[in-house]
Amino acid sequence: MSMLENDLGEIKNSLGEHGKQISGRNFLVTGGAGFIGSWFCDTIVSMGGTVVCVDNLSAGSEKNIAHLLKAANFKFVKAGVEEFETGEKFDYIVHMASIASPPLYQKFPVETLDSGVLGTKRMLEIARKQKVKGFLLTSTSEVYGNPPNEMIPTPENYYGYVNSYGPRSMYDESKRCAEAYCYSYWKQHNVPVRIARIFNTYGPRLDTKNPSGYGRALIKFAYLAVNNKSISMYGDGSQTRSFCYITDQIAGLLKLLLLPNIDGEVVNIGSEEEISIGDLIKTILKLTGSSSKLINTKPAYDIRDDPLRRKPDLSKAKKMLGWGAKTSLEHGLSKTISWIKESG
Ligand SMILES: NC(=O)c1ccc[n+]([C@@H]2O[C@H](COP(=O)([O-])OP(=O)(O)OC[C@H]3O[C@@H](n4cnc5c(N)ncnc54)[C@H](O)[C@@H]3O)[C@@H](O)[C@H]2O)c1
Repeated sequence: MSMLENDLGEIKNSLGEHGKQISGRNFLVTGGAGFIGSWFCDTIVSMGGTVVCVDNLSAGSEKNIAHLLKAANFKFVKAGVEEFETGEKFDYIVHMASIASPPLYQKFPVETLDSGVLGTKRMLEIARKQKVKGFLLTSTSEVYGNPPNEMIPTPENYYGYVNSYGPRSMYDESKRCAEAYCYSYWKQHNVPVRIARIFNTYGPRLDTKNPSGYGRALIKFAYLAVNNKSISMYGDGSQTRSFCYITDQIAGLLKLLLLPNIDGEVVNIGSEEEISIGDLIKTILKLTGSSSKLINTKPAYDIRDDPLRRKPDLSKAKKMLGWGAKTSLEHGLSKTISWIKESG
């Protein structure tokens, strides 16, 4: 069994009884050719659900879903979520389309706002008209901005310390507005929304399009280490993140979408294993046995407002979903490094 098949098996096991709701259901997955989206599509297709995957390939890649294109229960539509129209009927809508990588959203700030604001409204309209069983928005820990130390780990009821006019605002505010749209469609039109605040997630297919060019930190470091190329660290490396392996993330998202009687809920989904960026690089160098050198260069994008610490409070996810991240960082990193080596 391949590593990816093994990982899909892990997701299915984590879902238990709830997984039974997938077979025979129709899912609309926006951003499905991206990292998290393609894993989501894989899981649904392999468990007998039908997927229409909508993606404009602005950040994702057809490579991520190439293996699904022949499946009778999978269809890819290349379109932007702001103009997507459909005559098909869906049971569930999962809205992931977004430009989530800082260098990319700083390059395309207007498009980033559009997918979060116009795209979310459009998907919620489809959900309202079709009276879907569930609507999942993949929001982000970035809605918390740069929380003070006493708000680490960060619970869902922290309102955030966010700059609405700055180099991260196009992404952070697009998600905050998307959440407000979800709340409003739930209150006014009874759309059964559920919101996942995702914390840094990683694994095979993260930034497949160009991991060395604009990749998010972890995959970029791993890619450079595997290829023995210099690694540049921005700042002193003391800023922290808590990295969640993709199988845990997908299981958490699916539980949030499928569990009964939790409409309108917002839940953090991530890992509690907090690590500094400096220590992350050391761990990657150890696991790869790399000869990469650490260098100091000017950041390739504007790092002002970069949060100093990220760690989710998972009390709600544990209590409400019976879910927590199970994969250790070293184990998830080893799998990701193997994937980088295999995919070249
Ligand atoms: N990976 C993480 O660590 C992380 C953390 C927090 C939140 N999220 C959220 O999870 C979701 C998936 O993130 P990801 O890491 O898989 O990113 P990704 O870039 O791999 O996937 C996003 C996909 O959305 C597509 N897309 C962007 N704008 C679009 C538009 N207007 N119309 C149609 N498709 C569009 C992109 O082409 C891409 O395939 C996003 O909503 C992101 O904000 C991810």
